[in-house]
Amino acid sequence: MEVKKAVIPVAGMGTRFLPATKSMPKEMLPVIDKPVIHYVVEEAIASGIDDIIFITGRSKRSIEDYFDDSPELESHLRHKKNDKQLKVVQDISSMLDIHYIRQKEPKGLGDAILTAKKHINDEPFAVLLGDDIIVNKKPCTMQLIENFQKYGRSTIAVEEVPPEKTGSYGIVKGKPLEGPIYIIDDIVEKPAPSKAPSNIGAIGRYVFTPEIMDCIERTSEGVGNEIQLTDGIRLLNKEQKVYAYRFTGKRYDTGDKIEYVKAIIDFSLQNEETKEDIKKYISGIL
Ligand code: UTP
Repeated sequence: MEVKKAVIPVAGMGTRFLPATKSMPKEMLPVIDKPVIHYVVEEAIASGIDDIIFITGRSKRSIEDYFDDSPELESHLRHKKNDKQLKVVQDISSMLDIHYIRQKEPKGLGDAILTAKKHINDEPFAVLLGDDIIVNKKPCTMQLIENFQKYGRSTIAVEEVPPEKTGSYGIVKGKPLEGPIYIIDDIVEKPAPSKAPSNIGAIGRYVFTPEIMDCIERTSEGVGNEIQLTDGIRLLNKEQKVYAYRFTGKRYDTGDKIEYVKAIIDFSLQNEETKEDIKKYISGIL
C-alpha cells in the first residue's frame, strides 16, 4: 500500500534551545540558508509523500508563512530582476499540499499526532519529527516506507544511542529479524541507563498503519505527564507487530545545541558556496 501522507509535529516548546525559541520555532533555525524544517519537508517529498500535515502550536506562525506565497518579496525580486532568488522563493511555496492543525497545548508527541486522526482517515502514514535532519542518498523515510511495503508492518527508525543517553529516547527491546530489521518485544519511554533494556533508540522517523491512532487514544498520560507516542507504539505492538529498522544515514537532532552546530559545520563543508572559506577558517583556528 502506498504511503502518501506525512504528519510533521512542530508544536513542541523547544526548551533545550531557550531563549532563542521564546519567540521563534526551533524548526525555523537555519542550517546555512534553509531552516531545519525545509530539509525535513525535502526528505518527505523525496520519499514520495505528497500531502503533509503540520501539527503546529502557538508562536509557530513563521512556519506557515515560510511555506506560503510571499507576494511582496516576489515582486521585489522581480523588480530587481533577481530571477535566481525569485525561483528559490517560488519553489518553496509550490512544494506540495500542506495542511495545518493546531495542537491546543503541547501535551506530548502522541497527542500531537492524534490531532491528525481525521485527516489521516484510514491510510498508512509517515511521521517525521520537525527537528531531526537525516542525510542519506536514499532518504530515511523512504527506507521505512519500503520496509512497510515489504512486510506490511508499522516500522520505526532506530539507531544505537550512547548508553548514558537512553533517558532521552524511546528504547527498544527487540530480536533481529534480517538485515537492519528487529521485531520489537517491548519499547519503553526514556528509561534511565540502569533500567534500559538496550541502547537502541527510536529517532524521529516512523511509518504507521492507521491503527496507531486508536492505540494513542487508549493511552493515558505517561512520562512527564504527556501522551507519549512510545506508549501508543507499545499498545500497537501487542495488536499487530511493529518492526524497528536500523536506518542508513547520518542524523542531526537539531533541537540539541551541539548537534545543531555539528549540522552547520558539516553542511557548510559540503556547500559549494561556503566550503572553501569554512575549510580555511577551521584549519586556521585549529
Ligand atoms: P521534543 O521533545 O524534541 O520537542 O519533541 P520539544 O518538547 O519541543 O523539545 P525540548 O525537549 O523542550 O527542547 C519532538 C518533536 O515533537 C514535537 C516537537 O515540536 C518536536 O518536533 N512535539 C512535542 C509536538 O508537536 N507536541 C508536543 O506536545 C511535544
